[in-house]
Amino acid sequence: MNNETLTIRTMARALIAGVSMLTCAAALAQTPEVAKGDAIAHAGVPPSVPACIACHGALGEGNAQAGFPRLAGLSASYLTAQLNDFASGARQQPVMAPIAKGMTPDARASVSAYFASLPAPVSTSTSAPKPDALGEQLALHGNWKNGVPACVSCHGDQGSGVGDAFPAIAGQPAAYIKAQLAAWKTNTRAPGPLGLMSAVAKRLSDKEADAAATYFASLPAAQHAPENGTQGAAR
Ligand code: HEC
Ligand code: HEC
Repeated sequence: MNNETLTIRTMARALIAGVSMLTCAAALAQTPEVAKGDAIAHAGVPPSVPACIACHGALGEGNAQAGFPRLAGLSASYLTAQLNDFASGARQQPVMAPIAKGMTPDARASVSAYFASLPAPVSTSTSAPKPDALGEQLALHGNWKNGVPACVSCHGDQGSGVGDAFPAIAGQPAAYIKAQLAAWKTNTRAPGPLGLMSAVAKRLSDKEADAAATYFASLPAAQHAPENGTQGAAR
């Protein structure tokens, strides 16, 4: 046997191993919890809860024009916390409140596990407006004069998210990001872990909030590596 056949054999073995791994992955793709969440995402919880994909997109990618946020690839614990906050009123939002209230805590966890298991969308709307220098300055360096740290220091390089607590903000609709920053200023969104984001938002001027929103909306959505493996129940 010459070296060439050996290499081909090794490659073939690797390929076969790869295929069987894929088969296993397909077989394991949906845990019972994720399957339950899949059903809710596509059919809602009749009669009161509509299908999530009607607004959040067939792949949980969101809708830039309408300002509906992307859910795909965000951490399950983050999504569950948001649904619980919508249900309790700690995060006040007229569209999501009845939807979250219409689900049991168990259903909220399942549908969150489902969206967390989906990959982040590959590309975002090309209609995102061009960011200006102020947005980039805040994102990468913050505004230390007013005690605002760089957004990426918590949200990760390119705003792609870090671990379970710091959500990806890259590629979220600009209008959605702006609305969230405003919600923390008016205390209509719960302060979140350690009140970190609420403190940041309260230190931003309206002009800065607009600029940061435009900046992150212009970046491609990206999947972040989960820190502890709990993100994405199907993975
Ligand atoms: C009629 C449209 C609509 C439907 C249907 C809908 N949503 Fe939403 N969702 C929204 C809007 C609008 C927001 C932004 C709320 C805000 O500005 O705070 C949102 C926000 C969210 C958020 C917060 C995301 C984040 O990044 O913090 C989660 C989680 C969520 N929705 C989950 C769901 C789930 C799960 C379902 C299905 C059971 C669902 N939504 C159905 C419109 C909808
Ligand atoms: C000190 C850490 C920290 C910094 C700095 C920070 N954030 Fe956040 N941010 C968070 C945390 C934590 C959350 C999650 C809040 C929650 O769980 O409700 C968050 C959430 C958000 C959200 C909501 C995402 C969603 O899906 O609803 C937006 C938008 C956001 N941050 C924008 C920004 C911008 C813009 C900057 C820079 C001006 C910034 N953040 C700087 C910690 C930070």
